[in-house]
Amino acid sequence: MAELQEVQITEEKPLLPGQVPKAAKTHSVETPYGSVTFTVYGTPKPKRPAILTYHDVGLNYKTCFQPLFQFGDMQEIIQNFVRVHVDAPGMEEGAPVFPLGYQYPSLDQLADMIPCILQYLNFSTIIGIGVGAGAYVLSRYALNHPDTVEGLVLINIDPNAKGWMDWAAHKLTGLTSSIPEMILGHLFSQEDLSGNSELVQKYRNIVTHAPNLENIELYWNSYNNRRDLNFERGSDITLKCPVMLVVGDQAPHEDAVVECNSKLDPTQTSFLKMADSGGQPQLTQPGKLTEAFKYFLQGMGYMASSCMTRLSRSRTASLTSAASTDGNRSRSRTLSQSSESGTLPSGLPGHTMEVSC
Ligand code: BEZ
Repeated sequence: MAELQEVQITEEKPLLPGQVPKAAKTHSVETPYGSVTFTVYGTPKPKRPAILTYHDVGLNYKTCFQPLFQFGDMQEIIQNFVRVHVDAPGMEEGAPVFPLGYQYPSLDQLADMIPCILQYLNFSTIIGIGVGAGAYVLSRYALNHPDTVEGLVLINIDPNAKGWMDWAAHKLTGLTSSIPEMILGHLFSQEDLSGNSELVQKYRNIVTHAPNLENIELYWNSYNNRRDLNFERGSDITLKCPVMLVVGDQAPHEDAVVECNSKLDPTQTSFLKMADSGGQPQLTQPGKLTEAFKYFLQGMGYMASSCMTRLSRSRTASLTSAASTDGNRSRSRTLSQSSESGTLPSGLPGHTMEVSC
């Protein structure tokens, strides 16, 4: 950490204490591993963490999170938080292609850039939302800086390094598939891809025609070379904050997320498996995710239900909590999406809440 405290901010002056960043302003800071760009929406709220997002490979903060953060019901939540959307190096819109031989940061190094961002913004704590590689980066950051992470929403996390079998499969796929195809296979299920919905077509187009494809390949390589996060239930190497794990039912990373759930502290972890969401629940099911996020925040003591007038009144229930009625906080909560039930998982441990129109 010592070297991170000595980081010099370039391009822009650090904000003075009390100075607030303007809405939707993009900043770049220099870190020991190169420059990182992030965009801040909203203004800091006293005594509230920032929501900090980290996107997956092949995407940037907009292509990964815009549908979620611009979803109607989400507005009532996010207006209470400043948002910091990080673009992995070289993924920001208009990023120049890195020179040949450029040493792209490892995922661990990407995590080590986050303190520079928070120091620059004078933000002390975050609630992280990460997808895929971004979920790994935020988890690594949380392991290294547990006191600064109030909660984590981890979508499609795979905390394990690739084993030799995975490597063999990866190499074989690489013989017949292009990088964009491999990345699309990471983002979407085979069913999604063969269904070729408008969403899949849009993202296929984004990845295939990305002007920074060489940079994307470097982030992809870092993801594939990730170390094991070594989560172990009951050990020191675990996430200490409330965690909401999210994965699509039948989605590419389902098994990894299930295994991850088994290794985290069940009293701190909720597991949301979303039906009909494909590989990218934040794109396909922003409503369901918004609702789950609302309860997650409520469980952390934010967003008292009395403040959530429009969202609470306007939605019929859409989630059930399979392990939420017995008041037993020692089990993890598995939340399975359902379109019929009238119960919703409260953010408070072991309770359900009735919500109706
Ligand atoms: C936000 O309000 O945080 C946001 C808006 C547009 C794109 C991404 C995030």
